[in-house]
Amino acid sequence: MTEPATSRIDDACATANRRVHVITYGCQMNVYDSRRIVQVLGAEGWVETADPAMADLILVNSCSVRDRPEKKILGTLSRLLPLKEAHPGLRFGVCGCVAQQHGDALLDKVPYIDLVFGPDRIADLPAILASTGKGLRQSRTTLDAPADYTFLDVDPSVETGATSFLTIMKGCDRFCAYCIVPYVRGRQVSKPADRVLAEVTSLVAVGVREVTLLGQNVNAYGKDRPGETDFPSLLSRIAGVPGLRRVRFVTSHPADADDRLLDLFGTLPALAEFLHLPVQSGSDSVLARMRRGYTAAQYLERLARVRRAAPDIALSTDFIVGFPGETDEEFEATLRLVEEARFDSMFSFKYSSRPGTLAAQTRDDVPEARKAERLARLQTLQDGISRERLARFLGREEEVLIEGPSRDTRQGGRGKAILEMQGRTRTNLTVNIATDVPIGEARGRLARVRIDEILVHSLRGTVLAWEAA
Ligand code: SAH
Ligand code: SF4
Ligand code: F3S
Repeated sequence: MTEPATSRIDDACATANRRVHVITYGCQMNVYDSRRIVQVLGAEGWVETADPAMADLILVNSCSVRDRPEKKILGTLSRLLPLKEAHPGLRFGVCGCVAQQHGDALLDKVPYIDLVFGPDRIADLPAILASTGKGLRQSRTTLDAPADYTFLDVDPSVETGATSFLTIMKGCDRFCAYCIVPYVRGRQVSKPADRVLAEVTSLVAVGVREVTLLGQNVNAYGKDRPGETDFPSLLSRIAGVPGLRRVRFVTSHPADADDRLLDLFGTLPALAEFLHLPVQSGSDSVLARMRRGYTAAQYLERLARVRRAAPDIALSTDFIVGFPGETDEEFEATLRLVEEARFDSMFSFKYSSRPGTLAAQTRDDVPEARKAERLARLQTLQDGISRERLARFLGREEEVLIEGPSRDTRQGGRGKAILEMQGRTRTNLTVNIATDVPIGEARGRLARVRIDEILVHSLRGTVLAWEAA
């Protein structure tokens, strides 16, 4: 690529008070990274806009964990293409895991993409924009060596809510046979414990009451830093930060979820009773082919252990159906595990072959129609169990952390006279509450709420008492 004879605008003014619109797909880590992108650009005078038509830069933070999310980004950008025609200065960028996976090839394939950068290159964004401002298309997707990786700072001033995500590690060393994450995010690197503690403290200082710790396998936190704090110790320290009311974490790997960790539920008052523990399959042979490192019985024993520690805990999981070679009998084993486990909620996916993974060397031989049929059976079974699990909340008093206006209220209240607030129980269920307390006073406060109604995936209730402000 050569530099054009005349650069379009001077760099300094190209970045002054410009507007960025960020579209985020994928996991919570991408949500967190999108905040860091806004933060890095904010330091250069950019402001975030919720309206793509107002933007000078539209970024799609992408996910490549399955094929469909990957296709979505190109669909999204092509729909936004008319904006580029209307505003010639508008630049399109792709970041996140699809950017990491395809790099330069995205620029070659899609003429309207101006910049591509990987998850390790967020700090380089101002430099990348300086080049694109001169008309150069840019791709930067180097993954840092673990020893060189530095986590981006958390600027608590960008946090405005009662809850916040906090990345405590990046990458993954597990290499499950189907999974692209270790290739697009790199090897595991843990953020130093003192830094995590300092960040939690700074978030609490700006009003955050609940922190969700993020990592692809947070249970393995510290294993790349021998002799340093491990995850149960980190969690115990975080739970002791004054003013922090709740801590959660995602995601956990069952083989790394040891007794010490599971027994913390029920003993640390700030540790909320919710655990997402992806199982992927109920068949021992499929689990072995997936390289998950546990059997169905060992997984169920983990659930029993955590339920002994915290009997009312809400459990959620992930499943993949149609992994290469999955037989009807193997799938039946998945249904049996679901019957026995009594999960509160589940995410389930059709297997999608990912380039470069171990499983991609085996033919993706379960026909699409059979994958769809298995997914539907699994989801129907779980829907009934989810309803049954939700029903136990009717009439109960729950501690709810108020997060903001309910979705209905945000969308204009649909003509309702009484506005609603939204919060979550310790078990991570959304509760809608009608109240005349102004939202500014309620946000970030805990309330004792009586649950009056069970909705499809959420609850409705009445405040009985407020925690002192
Ligand atoms: N780190 C987490 C989850 C990472 S990806 C863990 O270890 O469980 C989130 C979910 O996407 C996975 O739990 C899995 O259910 C699903 N997933 C990952 N790769 C997939 C693939 N190739 N096809 C279909 N689903 C996949
Ligand atoms: Fe992927 Fe397995 Fe790592 Fe989860 S633990 S990110 S599924 S390789
Ligand atoms: Fe997707 Fe990357 Fe997260 S592949 S699940 S956005 S780590």
